[in-house]
This record gives sequence, C-alpha cells and structure tokens, in this order.
Amino acid sequence: MGRLLAAIYDPFMAATERACLQQWRAALLADVAGRVLEIGAGTGQSLAHYPAAVQRLVLAEPDRSMRARLAKRIPAALVGRVEIIDSPGEHLPFAADSFDVVVSSLVLCTVPDPEATLAEVVRVLAPGGRLIFLEHVADDERPDRLRWQTRLEPLWKRLAGGCHLTRRTHETITAAGLQLEQLERASMRKANPLTRRSIRGVARKPS
Ligand SMILES: C[S@@+](CC[C@H](N)C(=O)[O-])C[C@H]1O[C@@H](n2cnc3c(N)ncnc32)[C@H](O)[C@@H]1O
Repeated sequence: MGRLLAAIYDPFMAATERACLQQWRAALLADVAGRVLEIGAGTGQSLAHYPAAVQRLVLAEPDRSMRARLAKRIPAALVGRVEIIDSPGEHLPFAADSFDVVVSSLVLCTVPDPEATLAEVVRVLAPGGRLIFLEHVADDERPDRLRWQTRLEPLWKRLAGGCHLTRRTHETITAAGLQLEQLERASMRKANPLTRRSIRGVARKPS
C-alpha cells in the first residue's frame, strides 16, 4: 500500500469505522480464543476487540508502513502475546493446523490471489477452526451500482492499493472448502457507494 496510503487509511475510514465497522468487529471477535492469526492486519483497527482468552495473536501484514502503525497499536492487555510478521496471505509461514481462528477484514478484496490465500487459510487452520471475515463485495443487489463497480474497478485498483470492487468473496470462501456458519449482508454506512455492500460472518474448516 505504501506510506501515503498507510497514512491516510485511518482518516479515510474513520466515519465508516464509527458508523458500523467498530461495532461489527467487536461482535465478530467477542468469542475468539486460543491461537489466532489475522491476515492483512493493516493499521490494527481490530486490535482493541480481541478478548483476553486469546493465547497467541499473529498479525501478518506485508506492507512495511502498515506494520509500523500496527506495532504502535498493540493494546497493553495483549503485550507479550502478539507477534507481527511480514507475510502475504498467499504464503503463510506456518505448519498445517497451527491456528484455531483466522481473521480477515477488508483483505480478501485486496490480496492478488484470493483462492491461494484461502487455500493457505484452510491449511493453517486446525480441523474445526474458524475463519472470521468482514469484506466488501460486488453489489449484486443493485445492478446500477454493480455496473459502476465494474467500470471503475481498474482505476480503483490503482488508487486503492490493489483493492477489487467486484469480488464475490463468500463464493471463494466456500469454494476453498470452508463451511459457512454465519453470513450477514449489510450496507457499510458512510462508506463510498462503490464499497458499501458487505458480508461478514464465520466459516469453519471441517473436522
Ligand atoms: C483495506 S486494508 C485492511 C486493513 C485491516 N485488515 C482493516 O480491517 O482495517 C487491506 C490490507 O491488506 C494488506 N494486503 C495487501 N496485500 C496482501 C496480501 N497479499 N496478503 C495479505 N494482506 C495483504 C494491505 O497491506 C492492507 O493492510
């Protein structure tokens, strides 16, 4: 994403975080416990919501400027249990079955290869482990908006660090072999209309 995008990310997202994202992050992470991996952790917008039951939290983030911001945001309650690593979702440096939970928020829109990333998520999750996701997606409920998403995606990708507007991420999640247990669709209030359609929920690796 680079220094500029890392610097403007939080101010750019502030209204949406206040309007809905912080509430959604808190609800999604409320019962997270054990060994947890967050991919594309960004500036650490989810960090405040990890419960004390988390034993180990690995924050994988390939962008150096994002990692610098992340390091400054580790909550005092988690110090000593958090590790920040330089790693893309497509190549996770962990053995199979290493984590109880993987968290992905607003990341599967950006990774160059979502199928490879989800294959890695499935590999590192223990049997019965959960992927917790919160993503913006193609607006299939609004054909007018979907047309604009499709038209503007090439430009948007260049301006927004590789972010795609028309991915159907819930389909990619199930195609990877994860079982959807919870799926909520909502409009991300205060977000740009191009990124407003969102999905969030839980998908489980079969035992
Ligand atoms: C839109 S930001 C979301 C940040 C954070 N997860 C959040 O919820 O605010 C997308 C993040 O994905 C990261 N990213 C880009 N390519 C990636 C990849 N191949 N694997 C994992 N993360 C990636 C970016 O560096 C950036 O931090």
